[in-house]
Amino acid sequence: MILKTRYKPFAEYVRSVKENGFYPYFHPISRSYGPEVEVGSRRLVMVGSNDYLGFTHDPRVIEATIQSLHRWGTGPGGSRFLCGNMTLHEILEERLAAFVGKKRALVHTTGFSANLGAIASLATADDVILCDKEIHASIYAGCRLSQARIVPFVHNNVEAAARKVRWARERSPESCIFLITEGVFSMSGDVSPLPGLIRLKEEFPDLIIYVDDAHGLGVMGRRGAGTPEHYGTVEGVDYIMGTFSKALASIGGFIAADDEDVLEHVKHNSKTLIFSAALPASNVATVLACLDILEKEPSRLDRLRENTHKARAGYREIGLKTKDTETPIIPIHVGPEEKAYRLSLELFDRGVFALPAVYPAVPKGQAIIRTAYMSTHEPRHIDFVLNVLDGLAKKYRIRLDDLELPRIGPEEEEAEPASKPAQGSRCSVQGG
Ligand SMILES: Cc1ncc(COP(=O)(O)O)c(C=O)c1O
Repeated sequence: MILKTRYKPFAEYVRSVKENGFYPYFHPISRSYGPEVEVGSRRLVMVGSNDYLGFTHDPRVIEATIQSLHRWGTGPGGSRFLCGNMTLHEILEERLAAFVGKKRALVHTTGFSANLGAIASLATADDVILCDKEIHASIYAGCRLSQARIVPFVHNNVEAAARKVRWARERSPESCIFLITEGVFSMSGDVSPLPGLIRLKEEFPDLIIYVDDAHGLGVMGRRGAGTPEHYGTVEGVDYIMGTFSKALASIGGFIAADDEDVLEHVKHNSKTLIFSAALPASNVATVLACLDILEKEPSRLDRLRENTHKARAGYREIGLKTKDTETPIIPIHVGPEEKAYRLSLELFDRGVFALPAVYPAVPKGQAIIRTAYMSTHEPRHIDFVLNVLDGLAKKYRIRLDDLELPRIGPEEEEAEPASKPAQGSRCSVQGG
């Protein structure tokens, strides 16, 4: 087949969406102030960012980043394996390990590459990986690269996970069995039922639990150390993965664990660590500065929680469907994809920057507008967003009473565990 022919229908679809005036992605932001951004000549309230603690514009973080540029230069000059490893990387690894409560951490250049490289070097083709159906694309990519058998389980359902563990143990008595989930799910804001998943170790002591806490780090827990800290279950999680691209105002990612031998193996076998350039020193310095401030100013977390609470209470008052979690990710349930595109664009026209997530990031016909709040939003920002949403809720029929909610079966589980996630799963291309 000619490549051009293969991708023509997709390009035509995107073109038609643009021509019909409801393409909401890739807005070019010309300036950011944190909770506000400029697009062209317009200034909007940003409620789509993962900069949960508002660190990207903290003058102390910016100053530390600038200072590191003078000392280390702009680029790493190579992979960590060769000439790009700096003392700063090792200092950060020690800080991260202590912060999340593990013995050792391993920094990668992005969160995506941390999942990809780490999972692919932990698991082998002889192993079984059980994963929540709504895991991020980077986890799924790592699972695929490992060649292990991938067995999805119903989202956040401990009983379903338990059945899959039993099935895997009976079928493959010699395999390593991994259970991979997220601490906080990037689209729904759902929090993983970690204590229940960890209890499976009572029956299966060698179950290996890996938690991607990209959206929990800096957000959950008393010190912001993440979802395991929130539950007091740090010990029960074997591998904690985190990113710097959300609350820590940079890019980069890491995995942390107590088993130093396994991490030594990952350090020398993670393809994305060995064969990809190191995280530039300036990004490392940003993260270190964020950790310093977070440790000294836990009140930032309080402000994030207050803002989240205010927004969630406001959504409820408007009549929107919300869940009782404390994460700053609050999805607005819309339903049909086209309606979500239109709503996002109308929000944009009225000064609110919030984007839709559609299939396959969420199941078909269950599109959402993903909103996320920051500790640096002021009450006036949240009031403004609530006011705009209130004005549009009736028109778009997004209040709980108006929504046509999909009927979801109690299990929606495939009879036979598959090596591919079921249709509608977010495994393949979840954003976030
Ligand atoms: C759950 C989850 N894991 C991993 C990643 C990848 O992280 P990064 O954007 O830092 O590469 C993301 C973000 O996109 C995410 O939401």
